Amino acid sequence: MAIRRDDRCGAGRWAIDDDACAGPAFHRSRKRPLRFRVTAMAQKSVAPAAPRLNPAQARILIDTARKITGVAISTDKLSFLELRVSRRLRELGCQDYDGYVDLLRGPNGAAEARYLAEALTTHTTSFFREKVHYDWLEREGLPSLVEDGAGIDRKLTIWSAACSLGSEMWTAAMVLEQFSQARKGGLMWEVMGTDVSRQILRQAAAAVFTEDQIAGIPDDLRRSYLLRSRGEPRLYRIVPELRSRARLAWANLVDLDRKLQITADVAFLRNVLIYFQPEDQRRAVEGVVSRLRHGGYLLTGHSESLADPPANLRQIAASTYQKV
Ligand SMILES: C[S@@+](CC[C@H](N)C(=O)[O-])C[C@H]1O[C@@H](n2cnc3c(N)ncnc32)[C@H](O)[C@@H]1O
Repeated sequence: MAIRRDDRCGAGRWAIDDDACAGPAFHRSRKRPLRFRVTAMAQKSVAPAAPRLNPAQARILIDTARKITGVAISTDKLSFLELRVSRRLRELGCQDYDGYVDLLRGPNGAAEARYLAEALTTHTTSFFREKVHYDWLEREGLPSLVEDGAGIDRKLTIWSAACSLGSEMWTAAMVLEQFSQARKGGLMWEVMGTDVSRQILRQAAAAVFTEDQIAGIPDDLRRSYLLRSRGEPRLYRIVPELRSRARLAWANLVDLDRKLQITADVAFLRNVLIYFQPEDQRRAVEGVVSRLRHGGYLLTGHSESLADPPANLRQIAASTYQKV
């Protein structure tokens, strides 16, 4: 499994490349079990006391990360910050947070700031999360889009705009494929995932999940759309038929690059707006809506209803909007 970065797209596009899969083999049928070897190394050592973060240092870390991703963290969350950043201090051999702040302000500060921003983003996600959206898509959203020619005259595109590991994007792909198979002649469709974290995009491109991570997928869909490794721990990979219809790209929602070329019929913008300040929320919503087709749908997280949606969006159900 290799991830190719196509720099022709300024935003950085990641293609899911099946030809060079170097990871464990995945099977549809029982043939050769994979063996995993676990090596345990016991070492006796006394861990030094972890450095403590004070509110002034926390403010600097938060502001540095926020300038990159828009993610706003309260200075009350000192232990959360310590948990996320302490490993980095150990890796760098920094004795304390003053040393780390100096590094952020030094000549390599910009690169370190990107690393910090990655460490402070939260990637919680799951398959069929907030399932009412997928039920609505099947029942109303997709039929109305197809009636307007999506999937028939042109490709129907679903975009997961803060895709994390890709669970949302692959769930949409499963729903679309089921919908397409139920239609005579099928549909032309694709899914797209973007995220600000390059690290998470690499994982998303592998399309490999643990048993816990696939908990939300019904059995019939598991049989159709997942390959299973043998041995322990058991891993699951999205089938090539879905992988070939997916694209991943880096994109920052609070500063969407004009080169990010997406025209989506449905955009998922879920469980990310809550991390932004109102000004960044507005910027993210406008950027995503400008890449939606007229008549297309924007889906936000159920705790993220838009207090003041742009004039070209009308709300049609809870956290469901249509571009008019
Ligand atoms: C909590 S996850 C939500 C994943 C998925 N949308 C869902 O609802 O399950 C939030 C994701 O937003 C991404 N994110 C945070 N700030 C972002 C930004 N400025 N632009 C794009 N993605 C961002 C994070 O990297 C993370 O993967």
